[in-house]
Amino acid sequence: MQIRFALAKGRVAKKAIALLKALGYVFPDYDPDSRKLIFEDTTGSIAFFLVKSPDVPTYVEKGAADIGIVGKDVLLEHPADVYELLNLNIGQCKMCIAGFAGTPLRSEKKLVVGTKYPVIAKNYFNGIDQPVDLIKINGSVELAPILGLSDCIVDIVESGSTLRENGLSVLGEICDISSRLIVNRVSLKTKSASINPIIEQFEENL
Ligand code: PRP
Repeated sequence: MQIRFALAKGRVAKKAIALLKALGYVFPDYDPDSRKLIFEDTTGSIAFFLVKSPDVPTYVEKGAADIGIVGKDVLLEHPADVYELLNLNIGQCKMCIAGFAGTPLRSEKKLVVGTKYPVIAKNYFNGIDQPVDLIKINGSVELAPILGLSDCIVDIVESGSTLRENGLSVLGEICDISSRLIVNRVSLKTKSASINPIIEQFEENL
């Protein structure tokens, strides 16, 4: 029975594919520049496909994929009814509040926050009783404080170079983020003979 992996396109996928290769799986058709969407290994026992990160929990929850590899940021922002079985410790970064150094994070007035992660941002600022106006932004979030669209941003910081190169700083940390292996609840029962050895292989190689 073939096990299907949904991988989040981008940095996570590159590392996840390297991890699958290190486990001995060979994907002869895989080429990062190809427009092909599904890649099978030589034995046909596993296949992976690449999707936008917020779609990974959806594919896994609905059973279109058995296993997903996706950042914890996505799972916090788009909670799904799946088993989160392993922290793969790849794609490590931090969810941060960032902006111009000295920007106050406590204010009588509503703080305007630009972010790709409105759920995470709302939960954080609710938790510290700071009223906020959230502005959903889909990319290059660092532009928001620079152009005066927001007072600060909530975003992931990996190397810190995007902030540095744009004159911004980390103002606070919300949580650590890394990639997680998630599994469809039904697949884990009905395909356990195929899935359990794969999960064990991942565990042994962490
Ligand atoms: C992410 C994130 C930051 C950047 C952080 O953006 O939103 O902008 O990476 O990484 P760094 O600390 O190593 O600079 P991504 O590259 O996913 O692109 P996007 O801005 O289009 O969302």
